[in-house]
Order: sequence, then structure tokens, then C-alpha cells
Amino acid sequence: MEQLAQKVGGLSLAGIAQKFPNCYPELNPFDLYRAHLSNLLADITGVDTKIIYPALSWTQSLDKGDLILAAPALRVKGQKPDELAKQWAEKFPENDPLFEKPTVVNYFMAFYVKGAPVVETVIPTIQKYGKDFGSYKFNGLRDPADPSKGRKRIIVEFSSPNIAKPFHAGHLRSTIIGGFIANLYELAGWDVIRINYLGDWGKQYGLLALAFEKYGDEEALTKDPINHLFQLYVRINTEMSAEKEQMEKRKQDGEDVTELEANSLDEQARRYFKKMTDRDAEALAQWERFRNLSIKRYQDTYARLNIRFDDYSGESQVSEEAMEKVGREMLETGISKEDKGALIVDFQELVPGKEGKRLEKPIVRKRDGTALYLTRDISELLARHEKYKFDQMIYVVASAQDLHLKQLFKIIELLGHKDIAAKCQHINFGLVLGMSTRKGTVKFLDDILRDVADKMHETMKKNEDKYSQVANPEATADTLGISSVMVQDMTGKRINNYTFNMDAMTSFEGDTGPYLQYAHARVSSIRRRAGLSDEDLASADLSLLTEVHAVNIVRLLAQWPDTVQNTLRTLEPTTVLTYLFKMTHALSSSYDHLQVVGSERELMKARMALYDAAHTVLGNGMRLLGLSPVER
Ligand code: ARG
Repeated sequence: MEQLAQKVGGLSLAGIAQKFPNCYPELNPFDLYRAHLSNLLADITGVDTKIIYPALSWTQSLDKGDLILAAPALRVKGQKPDELAKQWAEKFPENDPLFEKPTVVNYFMAFYVKGAPVVETVIPTIQKYGKDFGSYKFNGLRDPADPSKGRKRIIVEFSSPNIAKPFHAGHLRSTIIGGFIANLYELAGWDVIRINYLGDWGKQYGLLALAFEKYGDEEALTKDPINHLFQLYVRINTEMSAEKEQMEKRKQDGEDVTELEANSLDEQARRYFKKMTDRDAEALAQWERFRNLSIKRYQDTYARLNIRFDDYSGESQVSEEAMEKVGREMLETGISKEDKGALIVDFQELVPGKEGKRLEKPIVRKRDGTALYLTRDISELLARHEKYKFDQMIYVVASAQDLHLKQLFKIIELLGHKDIAAKCQHINFGLVLGMSTRKGTVKFLDDILRDVADKMHETMKKNEDKYSQVANPEATADTLGISSVMVQDMTGKRINNYTFNMDAMTSFEGDTGPYLQYAHARVSSIRRRAGLSDEDLASADLSLLTEVHAVNIVRLLAQWPDTVQNTLRTLEPTTVLTYLFKMTHALSSSYDHLQVVGSERELMKARMALYDAAHTVLGNGMRLLGLSPVER
């Protein structure tokens, strides 16, 4: 690439990297293209490259060009943008080594790359970087010029299910999206901390302990803690409701129920939970066992999704002392006030205008002195900042909790931590409609994954020929099932609701997880049949790749690093997925035109090098999403 850089107006790669912001031509060949184009256009237009470089954007599809410029973005006064675009295009050199002469549509100039140079820079770059192609470890540096200053740190909090309660669609989406965001920042060179903030505290966990005393089964607990605890939880809750109803009736009949009430399950649970908050050793030990066993099971399931956490935090881990401390601070500074014995934050008084009204009046201490979900989040946020000194923190939580997180961030700001609040971001998402297993409503992630894997297995069996070639169909069905669920979830924008559709998601047709896996495996299979070595591919004569189909695949491959950069802006999995499906479509329409097996040896090597590069990029994209690419 250095040679190419020299050829285009004596640029050196290092020189380019210095001249333009966030420009790393070594990693992203398109940065060289943008730099060169900026220099050319600066000569033509008289506008500074500083303005031109960021104005060059990528296109939605290859037929619109590889880079595009909207003339008004250069802020040249006095002439109509349409005319400017036309004049500039006419002045564009006839024989540029990298670009064709631009085409003009209204005030847009579209630039198309020439085939040979793009093929000969992009494929070797992919061969060189492999799994790291697309990653920009510089992004996460505090100071890109001085790596010794360390990397920026981000906390991604996601999944966060509630012990003994169902793992619902909100947790599923948080897990999928959060895992992806954590991977993304890792790829960009950040120091990423993954936190799972469990719902594991509150009176209901006192109730659960009671249920275990009454009906618990040691064996069932160790074997399947998540289901056992859930069953106990359901059972005791039913009992408690019946009891409440009973008492209500008696009360209406004029009976004195004071004593009954004092011994009710509700009251017992309250007392038990009080023991827990008072750090009673026995009560805590029991509860911790439930927690640890549950975490162990969660870990197995997360591993299937390629997810691990650095920290299993949770509501229980928030210290009472810390909450008391901020509680006092809030009261003293007038952020909270008393209201019928409870403490509330009256945002309408604190924050002017509509915003204050929208933030409502949350309670931060109940009348009986107990803390709430919001109270715990306040303390936890500050404690995390102390502990991790993060530069940024992302909460991946359903949009049903938009208000909660707005309240949280605002309180942190009012407490005088505007800087900390500014580092926090809520990444939200819509609902999943109609999520149920074939046996009824969904309870746990395991149930969903098992069901989808079964369905996938059935689908696979329909193609007997191919089925017989899969060495371990059960495991493959499991992986494909997981891909189905994840790809369906990541297809639309996060904020959109979608309908859980088992038939659609497990189909090999359409833009589905199984199709993506199939596209990846197909390239692997070509490589197996070609029987070429890595050396063969490295020494391939890439100038043989002249067909439109080959060049178009390379043009798409060249977009991968830019796609990653764009995804860091959108934080949308669909940005990656859309790219990957463009790639798979280009691949599938190329096979008839670019035969590998059966071609003359040099041509076979060159084409295989092309497909192998595509295999690398597909795999990189899939792993970024959290998928496990299959080879067969
Ligand atoms: N456990 C909560 C729930 O299931 C989600 C926790 C979200 N995170 C937070 N810091 N509040 O609704």
C-alpha cells in the first residue's frame, strides 16, 4: 500500500495518518482513498482538506459509488451547488490511479474506485490482519499519539435478570444487545467491563427464603436452581395471595385480624428480609447460596451466547451505609423532601419546565425506611464510578425503564456530579411480541434456546443430503438456533418492537441467522474442496480478479472498517447485520461467475484468495454480533 500511496501524489502512509483525523490507512485502505480524494478536491475547489475529508461519506449501495460528496458541504458561496458539482467533476483528472471520473446527480458527486488497485490493496490488508481486520485499537486510546497514557474504560451493564423470576424478553434483548455493544467497544480498543446487575434483593427474597424452609428440596436446588427457585416463588406467592384474600374477607365480616396479620406470610417475609438487611449471618448465607447457584447456571447459558461478565453485581451488593449517606445528602441539599413519612424527589420543583414535569415524583425511601430500586441505582452508580473510574457507562435496559434511568441520571446531576451523569448513557430497546414456547409461555432463556434448537433440528432434517454431512447435528442445531434468535432480534432498529416468529427465524431463506451461517459455511466448504494452502493464497496473482463480481465483492470488503466506525456511532446491531447481508448477497450471486474448483490453477488461487478474504470479514462481523460462525 505504501507504493500505491507514493504513486498517488507522493503521499506516505504515515504522512496521511498525521494529516487527517482518525485516519489509519494501514488498517483501513479506504482512508488512503479518502485522503487522496481530499487532496485532489482541494486542488480543484480551493477548499481546505479539513473540510473535505469529513464530508466524504460512504454510500448505501455500490451502484451509487464508493464515496459520495454533497457539494453544499464544502460551503462555497456564490454559485448553485448543482453547478459547482458539475464544474468540479469536469476538472477531475482523466487518468487518476484510484478513481474513475466522478458522476454527478443534482449536487452529489459520486466517486467510483478503479478495480485493480482496490483489489490489490484490500485483499492483502485482510490477509495481513485477519481477525483484526476492522478493529481500530486506536479509538480507545486516551491519547492516540501516546499509547502509554492507557485506554479509555467503559462499563456495559446488561442482561440483569431477577433471581427466581422469569427471564423475560426484556432480559433476552438486553443480553443480546449488551453483548454486542461490549464486543464493539473491545474491537475499538476500549477497556471494557461487563457488569450483570442482578435483581436479587428486596422483600420478595425474604419470601423466597421462607418458601425454601417450607418446601425446599436440596437436590432439586443444586440440580436446577433457577427452575426450583422459580417454582418455590410461584407457589409461595399463590399462597400469600390466598391468605390475603382470606384476611380481607374476615375483616369485612368484622373479625379482628390483627394477630393473623402479624403472622402472615407477608409479615414473615418482611421480618426475614429485615434480617438480611441487618446482615444476619444465617439469613445471608442461605440467600447467598441461592444467588451463587443461580449465577452458576446463568453462566452456562451465557457461555452458549459467547458472553461472560467481569462482575456479577446486583441490587444486594449496594451497601446500606452508602445509601444512607446519599440519602442524607439528598435531604440536606433539598433534592429530596418528606411526603407523608416517605422521602420523595419532586422534580417539578427542582427542574424547570416540561422536563421537571416529565420526571414526575419518585420515592427514594419508603415510610418504613426501606430503600427502593431507584435508591439502590443511585448508590450503585456512584460506587461504580469510585471503583472503576470509568470514562463511560452504558445501561442496556428496555425502554419501559426510560423514565427510571432519566430520573437516575438527573439525581446524579443534581447531586453535583454533572461530569459523571454526562458519562452515562441509556441504550434502550422495544418489546418482543408473542414470545412463547410451544409448551406455553416462556420462562427461562434455556427454554427458549432449547425450543429453537429443536425447531432448527427439524428444519435441518428436511434436507437429508446435507443433514447427513453434518458431523454433530445436535450441536449445530443448537448454534443455528441461537443464531436464529439473535439475528431476528438484531434485524430491526433497537427501538422497534418485533414479533417473535419461530418459523421465520429458523428458515434458511431470507435474511436470517441460518442463512448467514449457511453463507459462511459455504465459503469454508469451497476452501476445503480447493485444497489450497495459506501460502498459495498469499502468493496469488490478484491482478487476475478483473470480473465485475470480483471487484464488487472487494468494494464491499473495503467498507468493513468504515462499517465498524459507523456502528460506533449508531450502536445499532442492524448496522452490522445489514452490511453482512449485502456481503452474502454479493457472494451468492458471484458463484456462477467465479468458479474456484475446476478453474485453471492460478485463477483458482486468486479467486480463493478473494473468497477467503470474504470468509474472514463475514466471520469478523458475526463474532462482533456474538454469533459463533460455523464451518459446516
Ligand atoms: N433487574 C431489572 C429488571 O429486570 C433490570 C436492571 C436494569 N439495570 C439497572 N441498573 N436498573 O427490570
